[in-house]
Amino acid sequence: MVINYELIAQDSKTGARAGLLHTPHGTFTTPMFMPVGTRATVKTLSPDELTMMGAQIILGNTYHLFLRPGTELIKEAGGLHGFMNWKKGILTDSGGFQVFSLGNTRTIKEEGVYFRSILDGSKQFLSPEVATKAQEDLGSDIAMAFDECIPYPADYNYAKKSTERTTRWAERCIKARTRSDRGMFGIVQGGMYKDLRKQSALEIASLPFDGIAIGGLSVGEPHDIMYEVLEYTTPYLPVNKARYLMGVGTPDCLLEGVTRGIDMFDCVFPTRVARNGMAMVHTGRMNMKNKKYEKDFSPIEEECQCYTCKNFTRAYIRHLYKAEELLAFRLVTIHNLFFLLQFMRDMRASIINGSFTVFRENFWAEYAK
Ligand code: GUN
Ligand code: ZN
Repeated sequence: MVINYELIAQDSKTGARAGLLHTPHGTFTTPMFMPVGTRATVKTLSPDELTMMGAQIILGNTYHLFLRPGTELIKEAGGLHGFMNWKKGILTDSGGFQVFSLGNTRTIKEEGVYFRSILDGSKQFLSPEVATKAQEDLGSDIAMAFDECIPYPADYNYAKKSTERTTRWAERCIKARTRSDRGMFGIVQGGMYKDLRKQSALEIASLPFDGIAIGGLSVGEPHDIMYEVLEYTTPYLPVNKARYLMGVGTPDCLLEGVTRGIDMFDCVFPTRVARNGMAMVHTGRMNMKNKKYEKDFSPIEEECQCYTCKNFTRAYIRHLYKAEELLAFRLVTIHNLFFLLQFMRDMRASIINGSFTVFRENFWAEYAK
């Protein structure tokens, strides 16, 4: 296999694990947060800046790149790595989420999903075979199986039918693969139903995927329900493959996900809120536009080692937002991503040195949602 998960340390009291993920573009540390670069760019940042802050694997979206500029064009450019000049890892989502979350017209059939482009309304089709081919053209280190992300809430019968179709689609994705130099993860669905999650986990884990994702979470359900679903899903997953919780990215959920045995996460949260003026800090969030920072000449966070905190003050950043200067977006995006990447590095170190429980207690003592 081209993607290999190596378990390095396990916390004695929780499901938390530290590991290494070997990929065609390098070996990366887990637990890991993957910045989102939907349209072949992590918004506002250059690849050099991402490398500087310690980003390892970034995410791309098949849905968006398939519609524009087209996955064939990106293949011609040397794949997504060559096209955007990113030398480390890339994971691509299959489109199985965006087809459902973007736009309003779609028809789900056994063969795949018919939908209208968010760009021009044109008729489009994605299926296990089309999504697998598109991701092979993109050349991502890790492709995702084409699935259906079940909305919340969903009734039992719908969730069951959909989950079973996701398994059939997963089998078709495996069959459609032609590249042995790239990996693919399967996706567990099952809605919020315990027996369906178990069934899905066992079925997806039985297929020759390089890792297992847990999908259909962070779709509007309360955090407690998400944590519960994780608790009854991860026991059915193999210990020797990476587990990826899709679309989760606030510090509290990352920590609680790791506690329950998750290794990988992605979310637009840190980059999206940065563009709204929100900085992520150990005590929660700061609205950089707030008047109280007008003459505050300290950095966003005193201890933070990011480029932004080492060079700029809250007062300056507030001014940039007020004046609608583009540098505001860049500086807070840099801080937020650095914050989350550092958070994962610290968490990993605590798992390895046996202090994860203390790390978790300290986090909750100062964090306000
Ligand atoms: N991103 C967040 N949740 C999901 C999911 O359930 N499926 C896919 N493909 N992507 C996601
Ligand atoms: Zn910072």
